[in-house]
Amino acid sequence: MSVTINLGQAIHALSDALDLVGVDEVFHGKRVGFMALQCGRDLDLCEPELEDLFHAGLLHDCGVSSTHVHRCLIDKIDWEDVELHCVKGSELLGQFSPLAPLKNIVRYHHTHWDAFPRLDIPRNTARLANLIYLVDRVDALAIPHYESDLLLARHTIRDTIWRLSGSCFAPDLVALFMDLSGNEAFWLSLEPRHLIRSIYERKWESQMVPVTFPELKQLALLFARVVDAKSPYTMEHSLGTARLARFLAERAGLAIETCEKIEVAGLLHDLGKLQVPDEILDKPGTLTREERAMIQRHSFETYQILHRIAGLEDITIWAAYHHETPDGRGYPFHRRGADLTIEMRIIAVSDVFQALAQHRPYRKPLSPNEILEMLESFVRQNHLDSEVVALAGRHLQASWQAATGVESFDELSRQPR
Ligand SMILES: [Fe+2]
Ligand SMILES: [Fe+2]
Ligand SMILES: [Fe+2]
Repeated sequence: MSVTINLGQAIHALSDALDLVGVDEVFHGKRVGFMALQCGRDLDLCEPELEDLFHAGLLHDCGVSSTHVHRCLIDKIDWEDVELHCVKGSELLGQFSPLAPLKNIVRYHHTHWDAFPRLDIPRNTARLANLIYLVDRVDALAIPHYESDLLLARHTIRDTIWRLSGSCFAPDLVALFMDLSGNEAFWLSLEPRHLIRSIYERKWESQMVPVTFPELKQLALLFARVVDAKSPYTMEHSLGTARLARFLAERAGLAIETCEKIEVAGLLHDLGKLQVPDEILDKPGTLTREERAMIQRHSFETYQILHRIAGLEDITIWAAYHHETPDGRGYPFHRRGADLTIEMRIIAVSDVFQALAQHRPYRKPLSPNEILEMLESFVRQNHLDSEVVALAGRHLQASWQAATGVESFDELSRQPR
């Protein structure tokens, strides 16, 4: 069993999700990918290497999902613990076989050029990683100037990179960059409207590739881990929601293929949360109206990220409708009753169940019986589907285990926070 998806579009979607972590700085990954590609065209690279370079540029910061770390990434040339996001990112990519070739480029994208002789890395990989490092720092230096005086600031940026030749960056890559970046066009093409068009015009966009369900799950896990790592409280939430949704789908007697897809939708449902600043997600007190409005954008963002991947149409709407309610008062599409399929209703119930089973900044985890009481009260208010809640109630203990991944409530209460 497999689904056919557009891999290029999936990589873009992953890059969009990562760019959301930037909150205000939404094009960092894309600019790095694009600049790397511009420079790479003048190197002696074959087409697959160029492709890897471009993809590595788009995804290079996949080990970062906290907005705090992201601020560090765009403010400084070097900082303590810089290697952590490189190691984490390379581990994540290594877990999805179609992207595993990018692993080492990402692993060494903050390694100084003069440190490579001590490492046992193929020279080509070292050069690609170093090129990503170079254009990544160019972007960091350029960020304060994109909306004002980039063309004036470019001279200082070029001087800074030039001074780091031989230490941080390979001299021939610096020379190549100096050559290209002497043109205004190099900088003007980084403006969002030009950047987006150039990126989406690449023809490989239309590659459809078959992926098996285990592979699709690995890809979804890649997204889910980025989301879950964002806040200690949402850690495990996507994984738990996915496990419970799959369990309920099986209990409801849905076809095996549907069960697989529901699990993937569970992994992806909160993707849009990447855009919500950490302070709001982790806030211990009541949210202000503005903060609530910020959180309520997330399922729409999930939709925006996923709907462009051909082959994932079902999964996209099942994931993006998880805050829609039977009375039509959910968000962001205000679908109601009959519009909500069993798959959507399963994800919606699983999401609430899992959240109640977890530690949150403002409360302890609820016990299985307390969860069921809450879910039933939501059914009475017409916020959740009665059929799916009844199903969870009939398999309460097993549902709770699927949601939490632990055996007993005592075990969960003993876990360190
Ligand atoms: Fe970066
Ligand atoms: Fe959500
Ligand atoms: Fe959720």
